Amino acid sequence: MEEQSIHLFFFITLIILLPSGCTALDTISANQEIKDGNTLVSKGEMFELGFFSPGKSKNRYLGIWYKKISYGTVVWVANRDTPITDTSGMLKLSRQGNLEILSGGNPMVWASNSTVSGGSNNPVVVQLLNSGNLVVLNKNKMIWQSFDYPGDTFLPGMKFGKDLVTGLQRSMTSWKSPDDPSVGVYSNILDTNGYPQSLGRMGQVLKGRFGPWNGLGFSGFPIEKENQIYATEFVINEKEIYHKYELKSSVVQRVVLTWDGKTLILQWIERTQDWIVYANAAVDTCDRFSLCGPYGICSINKHPPCTCMQGFEPSNPEEWEASDWASGCIRKKPLDCRNTNGDGFWKLAGVKVPDTRRSWYNVSMTLRECEMACKKNCSCTCYTSLDIRNGGSGCLLWLDELLDTREYDVNQDIFIRMAASELEGVLDSESGFNKKKRILIAVLLTSSAVPLLFAVAYACRKIKKRPNMKRQGKWYAHDEKNTSLQMAHLDDLEFFSLNDVARATGNFSDFNKIGEGGFGPVYKGVWEDGREIAVKRLSETSQQGLDEFQNEVICIAKLQHRNLVKLLGYCIHQNELILIYEYMSNKSLDWFLFDETRSLTLNWAQRFNIIHGIARGILYLHQDSRLQIIHRDLKAGNILLDGDMNPKISDFGLARTFVGHDTTIKTKKVVGTYGYISPEYAIHGRFSIKSDVFSFGVMVLEIISGNKTREFCHGDHNDNLLGHAWRLYKEGRSIELMSGSLQASCVIAEVLRSIHVALLCVQHHAEDRPTMFSAVLMLVSERALPEPKQPAFFNEERCHKPESLPSVNECTITLLYAR
Ligand SMILES: *[C@@H]1O[C@H](CO)[C@@H](O)[C@H](O)[C@H]1NC(C)=O
Ligand SMILES: *[C@@H]1O[C@H](CO)[C@@H](O)[C@H](O)[C@H]1NC(C)=O
Ligand SMILES: *[C@@H]1O[C@H](CO)[C@@H](O)[C@H](O)[C@H]1NC(C)=O
Repeated sequence: MEEQSIHLFFFITLIILLPSGCTALDTISANQEIKDGNTLVSKGEMFELGFFSPGKSKNRYLGIWYKKISYGTVVWVANRDTPITDTSGMLKLSRQGNLEILSGGNPMVWASNSTVSGGSNNPVVVQLLNSGNLVVLNKNKMIWQSFDYPGDTFLPGMKFGKDLVTGLQRSMTSWKSPDDPSVGVYSNILDTNGYPQSLGRMGQVLKGRFGPWNGLGFSGFPIEKENQIYATEFVINEKEIYHKYELKSSVVQRVVLTWDGKTLILQWIERTQDWIVYANAAVDTCDRFSLCGPYGICSINKHPPCTCMQGFEPSNPEEWEASDWASGCIRKKPLDCRNTNGDGFWKLAGVKVPDTRRSWYNVSMTLRECEMACKKNCSCTCYTSLDIRNGGSGCLLWLDELLDTREYDVNQDIFIRMAASELEGVLDSESGFNKKKRILIAVLLTSSAVPLLFAVAYACRKIKKRPNMKRQGKWYAHDEKNTSLQMAHLDDLEFFSLNDVARATGNFSDFNKIGEGGFGPVYKGVWEDGREIAVKRLSETSQQGLDEFQNEVICIAKLQHRNLVKLLGYCIHQNELILIYEYMSNKSLDWFLFDETRSLTLNWAQRFNIIHGIARGILYLHQDSRLQIIHRDLKAGNILLDGDMNPKISDFGLARTFVGHDTTIKTKKVVGTYGYISPEYAIHGRFSIKSDVFSFGVMVLEIISGNKTREFCHGDHNDNLLGHAWRLYKEGRSIELMSGSLQASCVIAEVLRSIHVALLCVQHHAEDRPTMFSAVLMLVSERALPEPKQPAFFNEERCHKPESLPSVNECTITLLYAR
């Protein structure tokens, strides 16, 4: 019965969508036409072509959009600058092979200008391919294709770059607004001056560089270079220069330049019927073109971010001090090019190479030849390898001042020309080590002297001293350098007065206290307009609390995701430090999951939704921006639930940022919660995104079983929850792990899949665990999963009965770890 009604539903929908007498064609021939209301559908039904009106607009445009998935998401528009104002539009193919859009008032709205060479005897057709490409064919020979004229979307199979024979430049241009597909202000272009590089522009202004191709990828684009999802290609020869990517699996991705200037790689997630951001180009301060001026280096880990290259000093020290770095740096000692041994080169390791518009290259030269070539030419300022694969090959040299260099986690070194005398000075002071190594040695020396007290400070938590609180809207810290960091983040937030907050919380009354967060009590509050808030107040006692408070601000102020709890504002008044969040009416996941009665109200669909939400929240933290974040204290207690039971990750007091691909960080201070901590972190103090993956796996098993990992106890063996899940899995009885209360609501395939993914996440070795990205994909796809290996910590020495366990055990612990 139910199935029948579904069929009926689809039948009715189709009748409404497709006007009568129209069946889905993918091809029309000469002198045939497509009227407004009719469409072409590609063979695999992936794409559809027809007339549409974007957003709130009433104008009609001919475009191509997704059909099978994400119905109506437009990927290409023909007449983007010449809209039709009524429904009289039609697409027609002329006998000569010209694709024309006509409308009542305006006989030729748009034309492809394609023609068949050598007369029109051979029949022409226009066909919409399943790749999203609209092609005009003449006896199977392509005479025109929409892929040559991209708009704001770059699809797999498209070329991005320049045809050197015809001069055709294939670039991306943004829409004006979501309602207007005409050419907007933003564009991405493969610039072929000097060594080709991909540039992002706003009008004529250069906004950022995704960097030139280095053999593996664009050196400034944060994507996994080797991956299972797509293959990239960069071709450079006398005829053409282009970049292209092809999907390797059934994953659906597109690159889009949004109307407000963001370049995003989006990926379709079938289960949630939504696009997620797979990668986001140009997201941090150092992505702003030439922020640090000529010969400056931008580094996102430093405050301020700009420094001069070795042998250079600020050209205008006053401006530089005032954080205006645009005029950059100048040489301390002039070059002496005419003297054969007058100049040498200084190596700068791990960089996104400088702007290449004034550069010269040769693909077959070696690095040694490159050095000679640079030395011989007095305008040469720097050289490097063109292709960093296999130890490096090719030669790239710069003939102008070096602009837009940034420290970056790639295996690319550049060699900067400087006076030999300057170079001696540098070598003496560095004694052969680069700066990083020196710092590392300093750290090692210090830490072996005071092993228990020294904790390495990373970008995310730097302030060591208690700040002197806020004066007239500014937060002063003893540690001057970090002040700007603090304030920069607070600037994004709304400021509330202590009076307002006190009124909202009934003067912080115990009655309104709803919990104890990482660094102090949490209160429920209500603004005068009725909006509910949660108020976290830093207890005045501890340094740790202060650190975590600051950490929370830094990590979460700029993050926005529906699966992260939202920070609404802050209040600083004399000794009070207060953060204000959106209020979560269903408290936290542990409050539901581990309570006998409340857990009954949590059915499978809700739990599965929670698993997904958490996964997407973590994925966002790990890879959305280049300032990626490791949470370090993921547990059911830190997952809050809103009124619709949507999960939101909270408590960033222990989180750390990391940069690029260097994702393993070592610490002497192990913080986290027993039962959720991965072995490499607990034992060796090494944490990475894979430690969060481990905690995620533990949570999934808890969500499915309804048992706390640490309190789990089985009559027959000493295995904990992970061990028990593993044992059942090996015996093919995984389904027995599921809480009995889910019997009525569960979808067995989903439960089994979730358990399987969880077991992959809690494997002993970090490198065996999937990334969060793979975990999300595994949860939604139907493909076979790899076999998990034995989990970590599957056995407890003593098996506790829940009632015998002291209740303080759920607290976040801090372990100082000495080696
Ligand atoms: C076709 O040619 C006309 C006239 O030269 C021009 O205005 C129009 O932009 C061309 N169409 C395309 C798609 O390039
Ligand atoms: C590139 O370098 C190779 C080897 O030095 C040389 O034979 C070749 O002519 C150079 N090509 C160009 C275009 O300069
Ligand atoms: C340096 O090399 C570039 C590129 O080959 C060339 O255009 C320029 O004339 C050379 N300059 C000198 C002084 O040799």
